[in-house]
Formats: sequence, structure tokens, C-alpha cells
Amino acid sequence: MNYKIAVIGVGPSGITALKNLLDQGLDAVAFDRNTEVGGNWIYSEKESHSSVFETTHIISSKTLSQYEDFTFDDFDPEAADYPSHDELRRYFQAYAAKFELYPHIRFGTLVKHCEWVDQHTWHITTEKDGIEVTETFTHLVVSNGHHWKPRYPEYPGTFEGEYIHSHHFKKAAPFAGKRVLVIGGGNSACDVAVETSRVSAMTAISWRRGYRIVPKFFFGKPSDKVAEQTKWLPVKVRGFLNQLLLKVMLGDNKAYGLRPVTEPFGSTHPTINDELLHKIRHGKVKPRLDIKRFEGKKVVFEDGKTEEYDTVIACTGYWLSHPFFDKNFIDYSSGQVPLYLKMFHPEYSNLYFIGMFQPLGCIWPGAELQSKLMAQELVGNWKRPSNIKELCEREVTHPHYKQVNTPRHTITVDFHLFVKALKKELPKNYLSKNPVRKPLPETVSS
Ligand SMILES: Cc1cc2nc3c(=O)[nH]c(=O)nc-3n(C[C@H](O)[C@H](O)[C@H](O)COP(=O)(O)OP(=O)(O)OC[C@H]3O[C@@H](n4cnc5c(N)ncnc54)[C@H](O)[C@@H]3O)c2cc1C
Ligand SMILES: NC(=O)c1ccc[n+]([C@@H]2O[C@H](COP(=O)([O-])OP(=O)(O)OC[C@H]3O[C@@H](n4cnc5c(N)ncnc54)[C@H](OP(=O)(O)O)[C@@H]3O)[C@@H](O)[C@H]2O)c1
Repeated sequence: MNYKIAVIGVGPSGITALKNLLDQGLDAVAFDRNTEVGGNWIYSEKESHSSVFETTHIISSKTLSQYEDFTFDDFDPEAADYPSHDELRRYFQAYAAKFELYPHIRFGTLVKHCEWVDQHTWHITTEKDGIEVTETFTHLVVSNGHHWKPRYPEYPGTFEGEYIHSHHFKKAAPFAGKRVLVIGGGNSACDVAVETSRVSAMTAISWRRGYRIVPKFFFGKPSDKVAEQTKWLPVKVRGFLNQLLLKVMLGDNKAYGLRPVTEPFGSTHPTINDELLHKIRHGKVKPRLDIKRFEGKKVVFEDGKTEEYDTVIACTGYWLSHPFFDKNFIDYSSGQVPLYLKMFHPEYSNLYFIGMFQPLGCIWPGAELQSKLMAQELVGNWKRPSNIKELCEREVTHPHYKQVNTPRHTITVDFHLFVKALKKELPKNYLSKNPVRKPLPETVSS
């Protein structure tokens, strides 16, 4: 049978999906509503798919944040330890250029609807320049990203000042001289609080629980490289060692006026930030408890403290969203996500998810390995286990980390365990740094 494969998105996950399909001589086309490769890493001051801001740098270090087929040394040996959004955009675009992906991408094309017909057929409706087209494909690869649809919190009362989500935060300048309240303890919240505090009249950060803040460097080395030394240890032991190191180096949250941490390391997605604690101790960011209610421009906190703010920035995460599927077909926006290796569906064998996991580490090295496994299956070199339904359930009941039950914690994996599990399924020679390609099939147009 001749396969015809559709890929949604050419962010860091979609490009490696496309590359690895093409490497195996498969007929694949990728659709992206953007006009370039890079997904979330195409910074724009205007409203767009991207949620990065002017000063965003990656939070995992470069050697743990690269494709094996095209490393940072292959791209630019002088790339920073923690590259900026712009360096990353250029890295992803260089990957797409090196592996000749551009002729296989249809830019400015929104995937509107995907209808599963049977195990060999999809009807996919796209829209470009207002014109809708429905085409038939054999397989669908979903790599539409999971950090673009803002999730807002709900509180009693109404806030009458400016109220935005971190997705809309582009730079600090508009908040000069304002009183800003940031909600959340994830990476967006801590970055946004640090950035606004440089120019605001006052910045406060509201946490509903205690978080450990992990610095970007320990002993002159990126902290994930330090943690990597213990990757062979069980997750619980690693967590304990991380906790100990953080306690010795930084002390307890109490010293900073922050909520104490009550859960073990890994119970929440890690927050990596070098400046938040410094800003707090310099009086630039004020720690606050959870919000009880809004009263006009006033915010009432859990402990009764009441303060007036000009702006509230909800850095409260994103929905997992697949608007091109009917809700009664697939809806992972809440609850469990039972997929084997976070990519194989228990029932639809011609559907793959690439990059839809939240590692304690970087997404695209795992997405690259998922893509290689997908391609191996499609060319008949790998067979999915016959007990796939059971394995999907097992991933849900036996996660790498036991995490607090909040919406963001449904797709977490440990970076090292996930990479190991994927590599176990791949042939030894899975690297393909200089693939030799067949000529373009005629069906592909740009
Ligand atoms: C501020 C911020 C910082 C981050 N920092 C890190 C980090 O340090 N490390 C890390 O690993 N991750 C980080 N992330 C997570 C981020 O999601 C990943 O880095 C990465 O962008 C995931 O790649 P992706 O290709 O899966 O998704 P995306 O980069 O989101 O790309 C998805 C692509 O799909 C396209 N698309 C979506 N829907 C459609 C549709 N219906 N039709 C056509 N095209 C569509 C989009 O236009 C986009 O190009 C960060 C996220 C944010 C918000
Ligand atoms: N490279 C970078 O510098 C960078 C910057 C920003 C983001 N990122 C990445 O982007 C992804 C998204 O990060 P994010 O920080 O935007 O979102 P996130 O990780 O989902 O964090 C959301 C935060 O908001 C809190 N929250 C959610 N709902 C709330 C509510 N109703 N009331 C109060 N608090 C609430 C969460 O609390 P709980 O702990 O209770 O869930 C959590 O602290 C992550 O992968 C992150 O690593 C990276």
C-alpha cells in the first residue's frame, strides 16, 4: 500500500516528524498556519501561535536540548549554554533547510478538521487564503504543540484593571510604572515577574502552593548536566538528591517569604529561574499567597491581605487542545492521556502524536526519537505490541513521577527514562545525519 502522510505543524516536533518520514522514503506533507518553521519559537509582538517573550531563553541546556541528527555543534559551536528564542528559531530553520524539508511544507495553511474514516484513511480539511480543501491521507501525525491556548483561572468577583494571560505577555515595557500581580509558580510566572519587576512600580507573585526554584547553574555547570550525573539512579533517589542540593545551596522558601514546599521533587513541573529569589531579596518582587477574590481593582488574598493592582497577569498554563478533532473523537483537554510512549493510540493505528509530552527537560530530543520509531513502524521494521491498550493504561497508572493532581500534570515524563524507553525500541544505527533522499513525489507541492 502507498502511504500518504499528513503532519500538523512544523514546530520543533513537526520538523523532526517530517524529516524522519522523508528519510525512510515515505510520502509526507506538513501543514502549518504559520509562514515559517519554528512554532512557539517564532517570537512576535503581535498575537500569534507563539507564547515566548522578548527575553525568553530555553530552560534546559544545549547538549540536552538538541536533535541527535543535528546538534548545536553542527549548527553553531558558539551557541550559548541556554540559547535564546532567536537562536532556537534559527536552529530549527537550519534543521529544516539542511534536511530539505521546505518543499514538503504547506505554509499559511490551517488544518481545520481531521476525520478518521478507517485504519487506512483520513479526510483532512485545510484552509488557505479562505479556500477550504479536503484531501485523503492514509496517516495523520499530530504535532500542533501544547503551549498556545491560554488557560485562565477563575475567582469570585471581577478584576476591573488590565487582565491578561502570559501567552499575551511579549515584553516588560508596557508595564512600566504599573502595579503588577503575577499568578502562578511555573516558568512563565517566574520569568514574567522578574521581567516586569525591572520596570514596574511594584510586582507581586501569587502562589497557590510552594515550589522549589532551581537555578540554571551549579558549580559552574548547567544544573541539568549536574543532575544528569545521577540519571542511572531511581527517580525517587534522584529527587531526594536534588532536594538536598537545593536546600544546601539556596535554603528554604521561608527565607524568601515564599510558601513552603510540601511535596517531593518532581511532584510539580520544575521551575528553573536564576533571578526570582534575587529579585525577592532585593524587594523587587513581593511574594503573595493564593487569591481569594477580586473587588474592582483590589485583590483579596488567602490571608486577608488586600491590595490594588493595575494589571493581573495569569501565568496559569495552557490547555491541551486539538480543535481539528471532533470532541467525541479525541479530547485530551482534561483527564488522562492514555497513549503508549505518549504517541501511539490504543485504537487508531494510523494516528501518531509527536511531542505531546511534558518532560523534566527538553521536548524535541524525545520528539526526534518518537519520530524515528513512527517511521520504523511505517516501513515495517518495528511492530507495535499486541497488548497496546494495556500498555496505554499502564502509562497512566505508572507515571514516572507521582504529581499533584492539577491540569498541567497529565503528560509528564522523566527525560532520561523516556529517552531510554524510546531508544530501546530503535535499531542501533538510528542516527541519520546525512540521509540520502529519493526524488520528490509529484503529489508534493509547496
Ligand atoms: C515561554 C515558553 C518557553 C518554553 N521553553 C521551553 C524550553 O525551554 N524547553 C522545552 O523543551 N520546551 C519549552 N517550551 C515548550 C514548547 O512547547 C516547546 O519548546 C516546543 O515549542 C514544542 O514544539 P512543538 O513542535 O511540539 O509545538 P509548537 O512549537 O507549539 O509548534 C506547533 C506548530 O503547529 C502549528 N499548528 C498548530 N495547530 C495548527 C493547525 N490546526 N493547522 C496548522 N498548523 C497548526 C503551529 O503554527 C506551530 O507552528 C516553552 C513554552 C513556552 C510557552
Ligand atoms: N524557557 C523558559 O524560560 C520557559 C518560560 C515559560 C514557560 N516555559 C515552559 O512552558 C510550559 C508552560 O509553562 P507555564 O509556566 O506557562 O505553565 P505551567 O507550567 O502550566 O504552570 C502554571 C502555573 O500556574 C498555576 N495555576 C494553574 N491554575 C491556577 C489557578 N487556578 N490558580 C492559581 N494558580 C494556578 C499552576 O499551579 P499548580 O502547580 O497547582 O499546577 C502553576 O504554578 C512549561 O513547559 C514550561 O517549562 C519555559
